[in-house]
Amino acid sequence: MEPYELDALEAVTTRRPRSYEHIFVTSLTPVIGAEVAGVDLSRLTDAQVAEIRTAFLDHHVLVFRDQEITTEDHKRFAGHFGELRPVNPPPPEGDPYVLEIRTSAAAGNVAGNAWHADGTADLEPSLGSMLYITETPEGGSGGDTLFANMHLAYEMLSPAMRGFLDGLTAVHDGAQSFRGYTVPPHYEIPVNEHPLVVRHPETGRPVLYVNQAYTSRVPQLSADESEALLEMLFALVAQRPLLTCRVRWAPGTLVFWDNRCVQHHATYDYYPHTRHGRRVAINGGPLKS
Ligand code: SIN
Repeated sequence: MEPYELDALEAVTTRRPRSYEHIFVTSLTPVIGAEVAGVDLSRLTDAQVAEIRTAFLDHHVLVFRDQEITTEDHKRFAGHFGELRPVNPPPPEGDPYVLEIRTSAAAGNVAGNAWHADGTADLEPSLGSMLYITETPEGGSGGDTLFANMHLAYEMLSPAMRGFLDGLTAVHDGAQSFRGYTVPPHYEIPVNEHPLVVRHPETGRPVLYVNQAYTSRVPQLSADESEALLEMLFALVAQRPLLTCRVRWAPGTLVFWDNRCVQHHATYDYYPHTRHGRRVAINGGPLKS
């Protein structure tokens, strides 16, 4: 490992663990993710919500096990962190804020089976998502979700590369996620340009803000240069387990992740079985470098 890579890792992994009074927090890996115990998401106290907010900013992905919650509980929990984000394109039926994540038997592919953050093609991408899984693949294995720390992806780059990226932007194109699928009628596909390196709005920490599912090009570069750069940046996530944690689901697990600084990848390794959950998302604000 290069010295600047080690420095970045050391800075994250040598932070003193925080102590909590109203929840129990156990890290999943030294760089991302934590399990939160001692809470019932249908009956949270204000003190617990405040500590969950702190843990969320520290760990970026929070896992809550053995929760029995209704859709109203799910939406109320999300509402503590911001305005609920309507599903777009809107679901043909059911609650406009609840995205059904459903893998039917012997599906050809599943939603989210590529590294991405939710809604990055939107002008104001999502703050975070909360996925509550109610059914896992038969036999209890498969269907894990991987999460990657995009602060660290940036911080582990060489100072020269960070300097080069800092002035660039990237186009995020919603059409890329519809490849092979029919675009719903009247749906206006979002395409927006964001800084390639953004600042987390709450912590100010820089984030490498490109992802394979939505980012199409870097407009300041030639087509070949843009393609080569994006390929290199996408590979950082795909080839570096050091940046990631893995969540193994069970029915009743809810995971809350920060779309501003985390990418995730739903693993489709459970053909021909089924999986089901419900996702509620929270609105974010404009992104700034
Ligand atoms: C997603 O939000 O991309 C789906 C994640 C999952 O199904 O684990």
